[in-house]
Amino acid sequence: MARVKNIEWIDGPQDPAAGFLRLLDQTRLPDEQVYLDCTTIEQVWEAIRRLSVRGAPAIGIAAAFGCVIGAQKNQIVQAADYLATSRPTAINLFWAIERMKRVRPPTPEALLAEAKTIHTEDAQMCQEIGEHALPLFERLIGSLQTQDTPPGVLTHCNAGALATGGIGTATAPMYLAQERGLAFTVFADETRPLLQGSRLTAFELANAGIDVTLICDDMAAHVMKQHHIGMVITGADRIAANGDAANKIGTYNLAVLAKHHNIPFYVAAPSSTFDLSIATGEQIPIESRPAREITEGFGIRTAPLGIKTYSPAFDVTPNELLTAIITENGLIEPVNSKTVAVNLAHGSRELPPTA
Ligand code: MRU
Repeated sequence: MARVKNIEWIDGPQDPAAGFLRLLDQTRLPDEQVYLDCTTIEQVWEAIRRLSVRGAPAIGIAAAFGCVIGAQKNQIVQAADYLATSRPTAINLFWAIERMKRVRPPTPEALLAEAKTIHTEDAQMCQEIGEHALPLFERLIGSLQTQDTPPGVLTHCNAGALATGGIGTATAPMYLAQERGLAFTVFADETRPLLQGSRLTAFELANAGIDVTLICDDMAAHVMKQHHIGMVITGADRIAANGDAANKIGTYNLAVLAKHHNIPFYVAAPSSTFDLSIATGEQIPIESRPAREITEGFGIRTAPLGIKTYSPAFDVTPNELLTAIITENGLIEPVNSKTVAVNLAHGSRELPPTA
């Protein structure tokens, strides 16, 4: 599996905690693999805000290392509070920052150890999500196996290795299925307006040798009707106590389409993506992105000057449209407040905040 390093702490020459954060600049993919070296919390904030590092778990990990940089100047609380203003929707950001704020004593060394733990735990959770999703994946794609067309899996945005500390969430069963030699194909939605599906998922999966076909977002219904789509699987940025799940804008469309076509719809996410302090998805804050990302994305004007725009970066899929949520603890199925609580209670890791 050829994977690029998206987040790395570079140790200082004498003292590891005096080092800096190296991020793969995901805004430059797929053309160039350029790294950003962040030595200040402003640089980390900017990297999160402009999506150089993105994807819920990856944002949390980057912010955790950002707190170490703040502690180098004895400013852990200020750094933590500042980094928490970088993006509003992914709960992993706030979860990681809260963990960092609780480290005692708040020395750069102790904080670096905690940030590294958050990073490695995330990798482990991705692996476990993949293991729980694999039988499901095998069964569904196995039932659609024909001689001429490999069964298809549809995904949206990038919930892959680039978005996490490990093999991704939605992509985890894909990597494991590939290791086991299963034949399948992935349809990757391009994911307007910032094209995480085409720039990142198509790049990441193709790089890993997984069969991937890029489609425009508006082709999903047709693809579901014409092709052997065994499942839709996406990640999530914040999941409410009842299982309503916020993810990249367009995910809700897919869930509605999947229901119409009788295709199971899965969300894969670690426990760090749950926000038990909110009862339903109604309370999830939805990031609004700048108009220019729609009107002149990637520097090319595609809309009239001065046109009104509306650009929510995420939508919320209601729990009744989810076949299951897959966490590192196993499957939440059916998805409701009770099953969510049971799944999270069985975990061995630190739980997200409760109301
Ligand atoms: O705006 P982005 O690129 O940070 O949005 C990312 C997503 O919506 C991902 O699907 C989500 O964070 C899951 S990542 C495992």
